[in-house]
Amino acid sequence: MSTEQAETRTFAPPEELVAQANVGPEVYDEAAADRLAFWEKAARRLDWAQEWDTVLDWNDPPFAKWFVGGKLNVAYNCVDRHVEAGHGEQVAYHWEGEPGDTRAITYAELKDEVCRAANALVELGVQAGDRVAIYMPMIPETVISMLACARIGAVHMVVFGGFSADALASRLDDSGAVLVITSDGGYRRGAPSALKPAVDDAVGRSPGVRNVVVVKRTEQDVEWTEGRDLWWDDVVERQSTEHTPEAFDAEHPLYIMYTSGTTAKPKGILHTTGGYLTQVAYTHWATFDLKPDTDVYWTAADVGWVTGHSYIVYGALANRATSVMYEGTPETPHRGRWWEIVQKYGVTILYTAPTVIRTFMKWGEDVPAGFDLSSLRVLGSVGEPINPEAWLWYHEHIGGGRCPIVDTWWQTETGAHMITPLPGVTTLVPGSAQTPFPGISAKVVDDEGNELADDSTGLLVLTEPWPSMLRTIWGDDDRYVDTYWSRFGTNVYFAGDGAKKDADGNIWLLGRVDDVMNVSGHRISTTEVESSLVGHPAVAEAAVVGASDPTTGQGIVAFVILRESGTDSGDELVQTLRNHVARDIGPIAKPRQIMVVQELPKTRSGKIMRRLLRDIAENRELGDVTTLTDSSVMNLIKEKLPAAPSED
Ligand code: PRX
Repeated sequence: MSTEQAETRTFAPPEELVAQANVGPEVYDEAAADRLAFWEKAARRLDWAQEWDTVLDWNDPPFAKWFVGGKLNVAYNCVDRHVEAGHGEQVAYHWEGEPGDTRAITYAELKDEVCRAANALVELGVQAGDRVAIYMPMIPETVISMLACARIGAVHMVVFGGFSADALASRLDDSGAVLVITSDGGYRRGAPSALKPAVDDAVGRSPGVRNVVVVKRTEQDVEWTEGRDLWWDDVVERQSTEHTPEAFDAEHPLYIMYTSGTTAKPKGILHTTGGYLTQVAYTHWATFDLKPDTDVYWTAADVGWVTGHSYIVYGALANRATSVMYEGTPETPHRGRWWEIVQKYGVTILYTAPTVIRTFMKWGEDVPAGFDLSSLRVLGSVGEPINPEAWLWYHEHIGGGRCPIVDTWWQTETGAHMITPLPGVTTLVPGSAQTPFPGISAKVVDDEGNELADDSTGLLVLTEPWPSMLRTIWGDDDRYVDTYWSRFGTNVYFAGDGAKKDADGNIWLLGRVDDVMNVSGHRISTTEVESSLVGHPAVAEAAVVGASDPTTGQGIVAFVILRESGTDSGDELVQTLRNHVARDIGPIAKPRQIMVVQELPKTRSGKIMRRLLRDIAENRELGDVTTLTDSSVMNLIKEKLPAAPSED
């Protein structure tokens, strides 16, 4: 089916869902009538030790305060209150290790584990406001560590386990972390992979880190620094399961998550307590129609990204969900692994990224057809635009034609869903995220910030503050203002995404309009990869673009000029450079393709013309080259094009 045909099909919500959905169409009216009252009502779904006196303080934009004067404990809201309400025996996580080992953790057990870990952190001298780094595989202790930090008011900073020692070191330094929680490693693609060596390397350069707590997950040997390193089992297991949670201010920092921007230095996105939990919990409940007594919910993402923070941990637990958590990759030990898990646990709600759906499409519908997926009732998509073909495949071959798909647009910065259909309300348009969430004001504007009429293309902006918004960039208020709130003034958040509004007012996200790539749903900065490449002694200059890729959304394509023209520019050097970037930043940043060229196309003012490089990388006819200093440059580049990109 062509994209055009796919776009014309729409899907009304199933009748059964309309009748029983947590929210109906009235939420839009309610939120439109009084946005702040709507969010107040959402906040009342949580347990507050002290109620707020002001819903929103927006007197000093773009520095927002939500639920001012309110106090609560996030871990209490995610765990204790469910146990106190008699749900201690309910499973919080069905954890599935890649090798097939399993653990079921009830809310009562989770409470005990979180209390033990909180007591251990206190014993290690961690105080409210201190930063704790978490560099872990997908194991229950990762969630326990996050909640233990939240419980004592420490600010967690989770670094995805696929990032390099350098990336970890710069994040430890920028955040000023005092403690690192890690493990000997985890299982990926059928083998144990190590984490501790990267921690040793990074912590060696971070004098502020006092201790490293190590969870044993694999049987790998680890280097040990006496006095600094502690086994989790030694320091956590002997602690008491009693710990009284302290209520923290609604604006107390909850976590920092680093994300790529348009410069080489990642930004520490800061989220706080009350507004964040309010919006992640409410969106999780409304967008997925989560029914805590009957649903089995699975966000198939890594806890190390914001999707994991908001919808594996905080939103899911605040709503007393029973979740699945899976450690490994979808093809290990076979390509039906995910569907086997859905069948085994009776998963009812599945949330994942388009890149994975496209991989499953490549593997063929026979794979999911071999499993019973009839328990599924709502499907979700996140991280990049989902093309209508992938949407329809997901709908038919995973959802059996009966499950609504919620395509949720949001960002690390927004903390929670911002634009999405609602499963019991919206008539779905495949490929479009469609409608701002109730209480959210999203618009498509032109370059001057004027709102565009339907049926036009422009930039996505958010014109009102929202509860789970980032509060600043850690340690850099100026960069916060410059990056997000300066293009159209301090009242308008510029998301960095292009968007189209169709004739019916549906919003279609069109990808980044800045120098940020989206590779398999991961944000990677072109500048960060460029600076890694020029850090290699063989490279004089580098330009990086995201070229469209049928599976990963975008693929990283680099153009490099070598320092000495005589240097061997063959396959071996290209491999060396690709590995160099992977080592520097992490395997997710490894360029798909590197082209060695003599020159780069630049404007007369010396700016690299990325648009032309993208044209080349995507094998398109070149566009307008009249502003090039030397248009023969392009011919030189084209001559150097390798036949096909490498696969790994
Ligand atoms: O470009 C948009 C894309 O991912 C960016 C945010 O990336 P990150 O902060 O890593 O968060 C990803 C998970 C929330 C956005 O600026 N993006 C995210 N969701 C969608 C999307 N693009 C289109 N459709 C989506 N549903």
